[in-house]
Amino acid sequence: MARKILLTSGKGGVGKTTVCCNLAVQLARRGCRVILCDLDLGLNNADIALGLENRAAYGLLDAVEGKCRARQTLVKHPRYPTLFTISSSRTGEDYLSAQAVRLILDSLSPQFDFILLDSPAGVGEGFRRAAACSEEAILVTTPHLASMRDADTALGRLIDYRLSVLGIVVNQVRRDLMRRGDVLTEGEISAALRLPVLASVPADDTIFLESVSERSRAFRALADAVLRAGAQGARKDA
Ligand SMILES: Nc1ncnc2c1ncn2[C@@H]1O[C@H](COP(=O)(O)OP(=O)(O)OP(=O)(O)O)[C@@H](O)[C@H]1O
Ligand SMILES: [Mg+2]
Repeated sequence: MARKILLTSGKGGVGKTTVCCNLAVQLARRGCRVILCDLDLGLNNADIALGLENRAAYGLLDAVEGKCRARQTLVKHPRYPTLFTISSSRTGEDYLSAQAVRLILDSLSPQFDFILLDSPAGVGEGFRRAAACSEEAILVTTPHLASMRDADTALGRLIDYRLSVLGIVVNQVRRDLMRRGDVLTEGEISAALRLPVLASVPADDTIFLESVSERSRAFRALADAVLRAGAQGARKDA
């Protein structure tokens, strides 16, 4: 069964989609079978980040309405054969229930190792739908107080869904600002949220939403941390 991991942040624009896509690529590069499910319904852009826009014949809504099988909503990445996106259109899906989405994901789960769920910003309905479909979560924040505070709010809500929160990705890190004390350090963020930092991603002009960066050390570290957490979980269950 696939591990269903939510990427969420509370605050918008901090890098959820970027982190989600790059993590998906790093896991696929290690041979894991991965689905990236964009639950930012209506504003979805994960397909663009992976260069897979306009490729889907069917979307999530079609599967829910029984117009196609769940498998037919998957779009295979041309470069990473074990990486798929599940596409959602930009209209008409706002009303999809968490239960309907969960049924689709559960039917795909046996053939995959990971289903990464890209959450919309905020802690409203879209967030709740994404959380209700997930079992684990990763919080994404920038080193700014406002972002961390919103991540803390999201964390509080995740507890309602009994998700296992793996840790934090600190994104858009600028060492010069950290050294000057203008932004929070990873240690301060970790202490405040009482979670480990899984990866610290530099603010880097070569990290674009439109292209994943295969060589990024931070995203490789994140994939390793996610795989380690899975191995530990499996040992605990045994
Ligand atoms: N580490 C980084 N360095 C430089 N730019 C980054 C970095 N991470 C993300 N970005 C840029 O910041 C912008 C927002 O990123 P992204 O869309 O991933 O955020 P998001 O949290 O998914 O936003 P939303 O809440 O709107 O869904 C994008 O243009 C992306 O390319
Ligand atoms: Mg996004």
